[in-house]
Amino acid sequence: MGDFAKIDDVTGDFETRFIWEVLEETKVSVVSPGPRELTLWNTFEQLRAKGTIPVISTNLTVKRGGSETPVGLPYLVIPVNGLKVAIFAVMGGAELAGVRAPEGIEFGFKDPFEVAAALVPKLHREADLVVLMSQMSTADTDRLLQAVPGIGVALYGQRAGWEQNARKKGETICQETGTRGQYSGELVVIIDPAGHVVDYGSQNATLDKEVPENPDILKQVNETNDKCKVMREDVRKAREAEQEKKTTTGERYLGDENCRRCHSEQYRSWQSTPHARAFASLDRPLPGKPKAEGCVSCHATGYGAGGFQPDLSRPDFRPAQATAADFANVQCEACHKQGTLHLRTGNVEVAEAVCRGCHTPEWSPGFAYATAIQAVKH
Ligand code: HEC
Ligand code: HEC
Ligand code: HEC
Ligand code: HEC
Repeated sequence: MGDFAKIDDVTGDFETRFIWEVLEETKVSVVSPGPRELTLWNTFEQLRAKGTIPVISTNLTVKRGGSETPVGLPYLVIPVNGLKVAIFAVMGGAELAGVRAPEGIEFGFKDPFEVAAALVPKLHREADLVVLMSQMSTADTDRLLQAVPGIGVALYGQRAGWEQNARKKGETICQETGTRGQYSGELVVIIDPAGHVVDYGSQNATLDKEVPENPDILKQVNETNDKCKVMREDVRKAREAEQEKKTTTGERYLGDENCRRCHSEQYRSWQSTPHARAFASLDRPLPGKPKAEGCVSCHATGYGAGGFQPDLSRPDFRPAQATAADFANVQCEACHKQGTLHLRTGNVEVAEAVCRGCHTPEWSPGFAYATAIQAVKH
């Protein structure tokens, strides 16, 4: 039911590939991508291309460089114990809106209600049972079942609740088996030769201590976690070494609180400029420009040069909390250079080129230095 992809700058690609291998090994019949797989599209697309597990997505497309292709198969008919089971999968608009598409990619969306209404009658002609994999909220899925008759079974993804047994909504058997892979849902459906559901039974079990680990997979999980630890440690060391090199050979950033001690007036005027809030802007979604580590080179101070340092244990590039000065935002030293330089030489002039280092044609197309400078002088 999707959302198995791991969103992590350092280990995400590696971990997601591992999970896909486990899905292959456990003989999963189909996968319907959730928002996380779309967020990690470049990796997911390569996994899909392996062709080992069919990917189903009925109402989404990928747009890139002028071309538009489906995210997955619109539906699939698979044989189960002599019956033909048709499976389709839709995502809701709210769920798609939560996706941070990778650079250069956009996802196309068709209304899930319209798509389902057009498809379900056709599936009935091709199969004995129609199954929906829903990447929508429980309330939206219930509404869709009401609007579109003929869906035999609905599987709920996207923060679905957990119900001990399947429930019925109209003619549809509804399976909500909880989140985070903590439960195993089992559903048995008995169907007569005319394609009518005669009876059904279900058991949604908690995967607790009662359910033994598969020793092979457990071993692979532990190995994968160990490798991730090493990967994170390597990246951390490399960045520390980089930082060390910069801080021992050059000047140091001191942070805006340091400057404030002696320049409270300039601090106040700076606080009234957008520079003082530039870091928070990264949380505002920009179409086609997902938040990435590179963003902080202009929305924080001294990144990669001994200033701003993201916390690598988190996926959102927050500052590491180890130091009091976090160097988030476009601080004093982004314009006036490192504080130690000032303390040594008193030389802190601001050249136009400093502004243009961040106010590039891409990010600040209308930048006019002569007027802009008036807005930031204190
Ligand atoms: C211990 C006090 C102190 C601290 C801390 C301090 N400054 Fe200064 N700064 C001064 C003094 C004193 C002057 C010179 C007095 C003047 O011209 O107003 C000065 C002057 C400046 C000037 C003007 C220099 C010029 O060329 O006219 C700038 C710009 C400046 N400081 C930036 C900073 C920044 C950025 C920081 C933080 C990294 C900082 N200061 C921290 C005391 C301080
Ligand atoms: C470290 C990168 C960086 C530097 C250096 C920098 N800026 Fe900015 N500037 C930004 C960012 C990022 C924003 C957008 C802040 C936000 O709203 O999130 C911004 C916003 C502004 C704005 C407000 C724009 C608006 O539409 O309201 C002005 C004006 C501005 N900068 C002028 C300057 C000038 C003049 C200089 C040089 C003296 C300068 N900046 C140097 C990154 C920088
Ligand atoms: C090369 C420097 C640079 C990089 C890299 C950069 N930005 Fe910016 N960003 C700016 C500047 C400069 C502005 C101010 C534009 C203006 O108003 O002229 C800005 C403005 C913004 C704004 C609008 C703030 C407002 O006015 O409401 C957002 C949001 C934003 N950037 C997000 C991002 C994200 C997300 C990334 C990474 C994908 C990013 N930026 C990377 C320089 C940069
Ligand atoms: C966007 C760039 C930018 C940022 C950020 C910035 N300044 Fe300035 N600052 C300037 C410019 C431009 C001048 C005027 C320099 C000139 O006239 O040549 C200036 C001048 C100064 C001066 C000289 C006295 C004065 O008021 O003109 C001080 C002191 C100073 N800044 C301190 C700070 C401190 C402290 C901060 C952080 C709280 C800060 N600046 C943030 C661009 C910036």
